[in-house]
Amino acid sequence: MKLGILISGRGSNMTAIVDAVQGDAIPGAEVAVVISDKPDAAGLEKARERGVKTVVIERAGRKRAEHDAEIGETLRANGVDIVCLAGYMRLLSPGFIRSFPNKIINIHPSLLPSFPGLDAQKQAFDHGVRITGCTVHFVNEDLDAGAIILQKAVEVADDDTAETLSARILEQEHGLYVEALRRIAEGNYRIEGRRVIFT
Ligand code: GRF
Repeated sequence: MKLGILISGRGSNMTAIVDAVQGDAIPGAEVAVVISDKPDAAGLEKARERGVKTVVIERAGRKRAEHDAEIGETLRANGVDIVCLAGYMRLLSPGFIRSFPNKIINIHPSLLPSFPGLDAQKQAFDHGVRITGCTVHFVNEDLDAGAIILQKAVEVADDDTAETLSARILEQEHGLYVEALRRIAEGNYRIEGRRVIFT
């Protein structure tokens, strides 16, 4: 399983995946390339330090479809079969998503379908929920709505702020993303509508 990881920022999920792959915690997986749409993404340096190939495909001033087409070409040129979104902050075009059917995976910092979109942790905090968490899911053409692979719950404490809650969710994200990829790499699953069934 050759992974291509898309980032826009600090890249802590990307780092967790790379470290797991390099530590043999995802048997059969290899990180072929990390792509950032931002030249100054902090995650780029973390990937390079780990000896992973990085490519910057700048989004500024480019049409989405054209930008995505270049990302797609780069992924294919590197033999990628699973695309991991890890804090990639630009919506992907329908054409790109269709060209990697059930091969794009994302992590979202809430228990979907609650709180899709931006600032999910703050949305959950402001709503007053007692339990939130994170979700690893396949990407389809609807925002944060593809088949759910794994979820992890995180309790909201009385003295939490949106920031402390986000930090506790992030800790769980790293393990959850790695576990989801480990299970996808094993290959024993099927997708039935919105459900991912491990066999
Ligand atoms: C994470 O909270 C992830 O759930 C969301 O974007 C953030 C990325 O953080 N999709 P990082 O770049 O992986 O540290």
